[in-house]
Amino acid sequence: MTLFETVFSGNDAVYGLTEGAINAAIEQHGADKAVSFPNTAYCLPCYYAVTGVKVKTLGELKEALGVVKTLMTRELRLNDVFMSGVATALCAEFIEVLKYIDGAEPYTEPCYGHLADAVIRELGVPLVTGDIPGVAVILGSAPTKEEAVALVKSYQAQGILVTLVGGVIDQVAEAGMKTGANLRVIPLGKDVTSVIHVVSVALRAALIFGNVTPGDAANLMKYTFERVPAFVNAFAPLDDVIVACGAGAIALGFPVITNQEGVSTVPKSLILQPDVAKFNATSLEARDIKIKITNIDIPVAFASAFEGEIIRRGDMQVEFDGSRVDCAELVQSAEATEIEDHKITVIGPEADEMELGSKNSIAYVVKVAGKNMQSDFEPVIERKFHNYINCIEGVYHTGQRDMQRIRISKDAFNAGFRLKHIGEVLYASVKNEFDAVVDKCEVVIYTDPAECKRIRHEVAIPTFNKRDDRLKSLTDESVEVYYSCILCQAFSPSHVCVVTPERLGLCGAVSWLDAKATNELDPNGPCQVITKEKCIDERIGEYEDVNEAVRKFSQGALEEVSLYSIMEKPMTSCGCFECICGIEPFSNGVVITNREYAGMTPLGMTFPELASMTGGGVQTPGFMGHGKHFIGSKKFMKAEGGIERIVWMPKELKEFVAERLNNTAKELYGIDNFTDMVGDETIATDPEELVAFLTEKGHPALGLDPMM
Ligand code: SF4
Ligand code: NI
Ligand code: NI
Repeated sequence: MTLFETVFSGNDAVYGLTEGAINAAIEQHGADKAVSFPNTAYCLPCYYAVTGVKVKTLGELKEALGVVKTLMTRELRLNDVFMSGVATALCAEFIEVLKYIDGAEPYTEPCYGHLADAVIRELGVPLVTGDIPGVAVILGSAPTKEEAVALVKSYQAQGILVTLVGGVIDQVAEAGMKTGANLRVIPLGKDVTSVIHVVSVALRAALIFGNVTPGDAANLMKYTFERVPAFVNAFAPLDDVIVACGAGAIALGFPVITNQEGVSTVPKSLILQPDVAKFNATSLEARDIKIKITNIDIPVAFASAFEGEIIRRGDMQVEFDGSRVDCAELVQSAEATEIEDHKITVIGPEADEMELGSKNSIAYVVKVAGKNMQSDFEPVIERKFHNYINCIEGVYHTGQRDMQRIRISKDAFNAGFRLKHIGEVLYASVKNEFDAVVDKCEVVIYTDPAECKRIRHEVAIPTFNKRDDRLKSLTDESVEVYYSCILCQAFSPSHVCVVTPERLGLCGAVSWLDAKATNELDPNGPCQVITKEKCIDERIGEYEDVNEAVRKFSQGALEEVSLYSIMEKPMTSCGCFECICGIEPFSNGVVITNREYAGMTPLGMTFPELASMTGGGVQTPGFMGHGKHFIGSKKFMKAEGGIERIVWMPKELKEFVAERLNNTAKELYGIDNFTDMVGDETIATDPEELVAFLTEKGHPALGLDPMM
């Protein structure tokens, strides 16, 4: 069979199955029965992205199938192959959505099936920073389970996000490999149609980050081709259906690599690689993915894929816990002459001199020297320790400063991992990432309890206090310049964040100090200096120089932004915001919700629904994406009255920001325990009940002018 015949036949087969399944479902449930995937604002995301139509019932699904049929042209041009591929993918989405009728949970561990919008937003920052350099879709069964595991691990070690479909899921499970979103290995499902759940991620990325108009199929495919670094590895034997799905992948710009002998190859798109051991290299080359390599001399793997790994008590060799015993982590700048580069010292017992399962003290001091080093960069480097130590396979790190907690797994310990290797990791990572400011670096690791106590109380805590005072003195007024951040332009081509001391980037990961350090490290990089000399309007925080910068960095897409208003010229959002804030008209206030909160808000919308209305680098007055830490800022919506407008937040978020928010409310308005006046989901998710609660508490927003 030719490629045309194979794709057409596969497409016809899937179409027939879909038609039968929809008819049977209508017979069973009636045409008005609702269909949807959970935790998405995009209904059937693939169909919506391609056509712009939201399908909500079985009846509409049947109509949609009619539209899919029109894509299934049978001329013998390459375009017919691609469109039949897309049609096959859409049919797969229809078959999959039927599994979710009546709120069913068709997928059980380890499979995920449909992925929530929140997962895609979480991928935003690591994808733009190159922490996740690509997305692999592995389909079918490898020749042996050893080859399956080796392939998956090879991607994992490169930080590539791996999704699995079909037999490979059982193969890696049988081999005892751990999978899960936290390890960046996501089994989707065993039916081939479950591949649509990763296609759905790519297409929603275009809607969320790219501001692609739903239904604009040409720009949709341009976006996925240019900006979503995905590829497919399909194991032999390929059947017609898999080839038809592959044609859909190719239409989106994702090359397919297979070991199926005799397949009709398409240059750069459908590639034969008989040797599974070479799938990785062939795939990266085909999709033009470059891997940053950090070679660190330790006995376990070091990759960003291990960042989310959790080590349970029973799997743990030893732990260190700053909440119980004296611990600290600290960066200290020093004179070059005081430092011996790459010297790593352990003062006190090593891991093999500690009792199995014991809780110990640890304090590590990373001394750095460099001509361009500034004390302002110390906390910026220190904040990265969490990420560096977590990237070690079998090591888990949470917290910071003198409250960090570290666990080392038995597996890592048995592989030879020791505390001195933490020193190696810190040394190599700091030298690698901060090479522009750090010329020399030395690490001292203390485990002797008396020394840990001394370092913590006499060295670390005084340093932290000094830094906190410095941070307090950093206000938007006290600094000379702000910074732009355009990291997210990889996915949101017109988005620019303006980062100020009192307004961090909306992803929550870039503070003014971070942006400053990024600028020093890479003067032509994503963070540029923005002067703030020509104030236009102090009330909303608008500056001529900021506008000029934003115009330049957005390539003219954005004319004017304010720093402090949600209604007038608000800052744009890319899509990876931690929180979203929207106006609540009945109380003259605003509701904030965060990505982790899946429930309803008093606006009648969930986080994904609210988020789908903003993002993509466009200004949407009344809605704004922002970081969690912005909530306690005196500059939060200052133009509209500030934080006293906040009427509702999810309980967890409220608790997270309470201390800072309450301090700010006290300082600005003299209100004590402001968060007690703010609603949450345990109080009300309905606007009327919320207003009743706010009235009872005497919430200040009720007395303010309406926002619109
Ligand atoms: Fe993206 Fe803005 Fe965060 Fe930079 S500061 S990474 S542009 S969200
Ligand atoms: Ni880890
Ligand atoms: Ni972003």
